[in-house]
Amino acid sequence: MERIGTAVIGVGKMGEPYVQALSQLPTAKLVAVCDIAPELAGAVSGRWGVPGYTDYREMLAKEKDIRAVCVCTSDQAHREPCVTAAEMGKHILVEKPLALTVEDGEAIIGAAHSAGVKLMVGQILRFDPRYAGAYQAVQEGKIGEPIHSFVRRNNILASGQRIQGRTSVLYFLGIHDIDFLLWCLKARPETVYAAGSRKLLSGLGVDDTIFAVIRFENGTAACVEASWALPDNSIATLDARLEIVGTKGAVYVDIHGQGITVVEQGKLDRPDTMYGPVVHGKLTGILRDEIDHFIACVMEDREPLISGESALEAVRIVAAAHRSLESGQVERVF
Ligand SMILES: NC(=O)c1ccc[n+]([C@@H]2O[C@H](COP(=O)([O-])OP(=O)(O)OC[C@H]3O[C@@H](n4cnc5c(N)ncnc54)[C@H](O)[C@@H]3O)[C@@H](O)[C@H]2O)c1
Repeated sequence: MERIGTAVIGVGKMGEPYVQALSQLPTAKLVAVCDIAPELAGAVSGRWGVPGYTDYREMLAKEKDIRAVCVCTSDQAHREPCVTAAEMGKHILVEKPLALTVEDGEAIIGAAHSAGVKLMVGQILRFDPRYAGAYQAVQEGKIGEPIHSFVRRNNILASGQRIQGRTSVLYFLGIHDIDFLLWCLKARPETVYAAGSRKLLSGLGVDDTIFAVIRFENGTAACVEASWALPDNSIATLDARLEIVGTKGAVYVDIHGQGITVVEQGKLDRPDTMYGPVVHGKLTGILRDEIDHFIACVMEDREPLISGESALEAVRIVAAAHRSLESGQVERVF
């Protein structure tokens, strides 16, 4: 069986699980890795036994086996590697959010279309069995017509501090739930009103917490809560919720904890058991399933579940929420 030669651009916290998945999936072949930080490129390349580069252009030019790339650079640095990879004829799986501006998102989509390559955005909740289950319940009409939704994605302060103000909490965390709402509700967003609170991360110039209220053209309303303000020693690093109330029923997702807590004297460890846990030396879980889907789409020439256009709609909502934070007014999405 042919395996799809793939490289990873950006091998920080999120990039290395991609490297591991690609080196273990039977359908993929990890060809090379790249990071502008030479120590990271060197360390990850050494751990996984593939060439490491600090310049993705050089990597894409030299490594002829690369057919696809996974772009795991920080939020503000998606456009250039995606556009370059597209121009060089490589299929692209880019981490969420597609981009931090509508203009950058459109540039990525345009480059992929012009080159005729596949573009998928890593909106991982579409592969999370809990959210996929909620999606299915809504599509099967079990809750009737959705009336309102509430979504939450709250994380610990250390997570926000690690990001150093490069992106906002709504782009980094809330985009997951906004993408899910768009996918699940199949309604066109009309307006957004947002309010933020800036205390712990004010030195980095970003909000700790943002609430965004979205009104859809069909009259449905949604409230999105995203925060980096949870205490670092919280029993769960992630507190995520979904409620959709409809005319005939309701659906709930409740994520608070991973089912395992390791407590040492003065130390609390809450390992991930869903997104990318390593079991018996193998990466398993939702991220692996997402990457597996992308590789299968390249192999079988299928359209990925998450298009650039659908991811751009979520970017448009967050961009409107940020305009609302500035203006204090309700803002139109389109
Ligand atoms: N799906 C999820 O649940 C999830 C979780 C965390 C992060 N993410 C996303 O993954 C992406 C990466 O986040 P992270 O937490 O790993 O960030 P990170 O800062 O840990 O890693 C990003 C890496 O990209 C490198 N980089 C930046 N510009 C580059 C360039 N031009 N060429 C090569 N390397 C470059 C940086 O040196 C850094 O090592 C972000 O888009 C983020 O939103 C997704």
